[in-house]
Amino acid sequence: MTRIEGSVALVTGGSRGIGRALVEALYERGAKKVYATARDPRTVTHPDAVPLALEVSDPASVAAAAELAQDVTVLINNAGASVNANFLDSPVDDVRREFETNFYGPLLVTRAFVPVIERNGGGHLLNVHSVLSWIGLAGSYSASKAAFWSQTNSLRLDLKPRGIDVTGLHVGYVDTDLTAGIDAPKSTPEGVAAQALDGIETGAFEVLADDLSRQVKAGLSAGVEALYPQLTA
Ligand SMILES: NC(=O)c1ccc[n+]([C@@H]2O[C@H](COP(=O)([O-])OP(=O)(O)OC[C@H]3O[C@@H](n4cnc5c(N)ncnc54)[C@H](OP(=O)(O)O)[C@@H]3O)[C@@H](O)[C@H]2O)c1
Repeated sequence: MTRIEGSVALVTGGSRGIGRALVEALYERGAKKVYATARDPRTVTHPDAVPLALEVSDPASVAAAAELAQDVTVLINNAGASVNANFLDSPVDDVRREFETNFYGPLLVTRAFVPVIERNGGGHLLNVHSVLSWIGLAGSYSASKAAFWSQTNSLRLDLKPRGIDVTGLHVGYVDTDLTAGIDAPKSTPEGVAAQALDGIETGAFEVLADDLSRQVKAGLSAGVEALYPQLTA
């Protein structure tokens, strides 16, 4: 079980949205130090956070961040993009770009930080997925989050014997820049961050942070028609 109090955490995409709320909540729970990454570290405005430059799809940038943050015990792969490329009409490069950020990015970051966390005596990995990992309503975004979910499931097995517990976070709409153009009920970043940290501290394999995520996950075992009623309408 991982205690937040006294931990050293790194939150990718920690300057805004869910990432910033995670940084705030980590300090509230007694984290010793929290690195908040951004592509432009000047955008990290949290007064206590340690800003760190990071482009998750760039191996050199990931290596440089890991070199600077050798004391990390809790890694949170939060950074993500929402390209939502349509599989029939959008340029295939848009699909690739989404996977670079949402699948390969966290993979590079995790590979760089696993040895760091191990050297520090073990710790925790939290990967931020989506309800859309389980329902293909957003083209390349859904696909990238489904693949990321699968990555997390494999890593959980690989990392357990190495002293690193793994939690996956699933949630529907959250009120951030990512959903600025969407008019629908949204969770608050603060509420999602609190549930995510509860998940870390209780050793939960998964955190389902809203009703929609719980409903969709339950629908997975009910057949394709349950999740996609438009197919039989
Ligand atoms: N909002 C939702 O409804 C919702 C729902 C489910 C899951 N999620 C997931 O939650 C996570 C956070 O999203 P959010 O809603 O807080 O979005 P946001 O406010 O748009 O923030 C996205 C964050 O990701 C970072 N980022 C994007 N591309 C990056 C790259 N190539 N390299 C490094 N950092 C990159 C951004 O960093 P910069 O500051 O450098 O731009 C920013 O901090 C994402 O993984 C998202 O998919 C969001």
